[in-house]
Amino acid sequence: MSLKHLKYCQPEFYKFSEDSLFLANESSKLIKDNFPKNYPIRGLDLCSGCGVVGIETMRQLENVFLFHFLELQGLFQGFFHKNTVFFLNQDERNKVKFYNSDFDSFSSSKLYSNIKYNLIVSNPPYFKKEKNREGADKRRNLCRFFSDSDFTKFLQFIFAFLDKKGIALFLGRDSEIEYDIKTFLEKKSKDFEIIKYKSVGLTSLFMGRFLDK
Ligand SMILES: C[S@@+](CC[C@H](N)C(=O)[O-])C[C@H]1O[C@@H](n2cnc3c(N)ncnc32)[C@H](O)[C@@H]1O
Repeated sequence: MSLKHLKYCQPEFYKFSEDSLFLANESSKLIKDNFPKNYPIRGLDLCSGCGVVGIETMRQLENVFLFHFLELQGLFQGFFHKNTVFFLNQDERNKVKFYNSDFDSFSSSKLYSNIKYNLIVSNPPYFKKEKNREGADKRRNLCRFFSDSDFTKFLQFIFAFLDKKGIALFLGRDSEIEYDIKTFLEKKSKDFEIIKYKSVGLTSLFMGRFLDK
């Protein structure tokens, strides 16, 4: 399905691109290749915005047990809700939950300390403030740059919430995040890898997973 055929509700200041659909398509293909047919998928769309990545991933899978959406900006919740009503059936809607939180607070809350996901998909803010100019719209800047957090904390969140058998798929620009990934892996035990799986233009799709399953 191409971008112009997908009528997602989204705010004026941020519209998703083909990259989000690429991530959803690749994630669902990888799930089908890596897990048995009826394996219950416990998914998370991290930095979900209006929910396009998780919803489009869900629409291509038959074995979703639950799908959570974690997003810092509360104003996305109304758009997310409309999109679930438009794109998901009642059974699928019963499996989704939107958390309006930044991932650092989510990870330090005792409420969620036992959650593990076997699929984490994410199109995070991967630009660096040091290398790029911020715009006038604060809400849009939060979509492009981490504020009060950083890419290393994003990787730590994935490491903490990913099931040992799971896979995490996230987008990024090599020039912005490769150093963070390298440093993160050097400090971690050797049982976790992050590889560049595919590239489209300037954006790459990275895959994180545990090696010792
Ligand atoms: C590049 S946008 C992607 C949105 C959506 N996934 C898509 O593909 O259209 C990144 C999103 O991350 C959210 N975000 C930024 N910092 C965050 C944080 N610390 N915790 C959770 N979400 C965050 C932003 O508000 C924004 O919606």
